[in-house]
Amino acid sequence: MYGNQHVFENLDALYLALLSQWRQNAAAAIAERGAFHVSLAGGNTPRGFYAALAQDTANEVDLWRQTHVYFGDERCVPQDHPDSNYRMAREALLSKVPVPAEHVHPMYDAVLSVEENVAQYARLLQDTLPQDAQGHPVFDLVLLGMGDDGHTASLFPGTGILDEYHQPVAAQFVEKLNAWRISLTFATLNAARHVVILVAGDTKADILAEIFSAPEDVRYPIQRVRPQGRLDWYLDAAAASLLPGGA
Ligand code: 6PG
Repeated sequence: MYGNQHVFENLDALYLALLSQWRQNAAAAIAERGAFHVSLAGGNTPRGFYAALAQDTANEVDLWRQTHVYFGDERCVPQDHPDSNYRMAREALLSKVPVPAEHVHPMYDAVLSVEENVAQYARLLQDTLPQDAQGHPVFDLVLLGMGDDGHTASLFPGTGILDEYHQPVAAQFVEKLNAWRISLTFATLNAARHVVILVAGDTKADILAEIFSAPEDVRYPIQRVRPQGRLDWYLDAAAASLLPGGA
């Protein structure tokens, strides 16, 4: 089995379950290590979860005082650009909860070059996160999405960053988007204690069925997500509709 599949009737049910998982992970990390280090996914699917999380934890000063927020990937655009994952997370979540500003770590600052942003984030990850035996930064929770081409974070098919298993973060020019991206690498994703992949909508049903029919036949970047810790797939019924026993 490639991770644990959780299928939900709709996105609200998925978000509710993820809220409970977030709280569990945060409580355990804070109790055991005094901090909760979490990496947020970009794109559209998690936006609704961030809004639900903001509503549910808006007054939880203690929880957010011990939470550190990072990003799985970022588009190399200004932080107030409509395409910025940081802007999306700030609008949906970070501006609505009492998280200390110094605990929020945007991945891209337009005043720096792409290379300087990568070097700065690599230093941040090494300085603020626990490391595993290979020196990789260890997140308590990593949220990821999946594109209908099987990419995750900014790890797109056919790009060189897929083979980066040493550096914790790297930049990649993505031809199909004609754009620069910065992304956590598989070295970091796979060092995590827990990875949750959120997939919703019928456009993802075909590729999910293909992936789960032969998980070890690695054809898509998402299939290289093999964390040391737990891997959970949070799927809505539409995305899971072609899976055995899918909705
Ligand atoms: C990004 C995301 C990306 C996203 C997938 C799925 O920066 O776009 O990190 O990997 O998770 O493209 O996006 P949707 O949730 O919008 O389908």
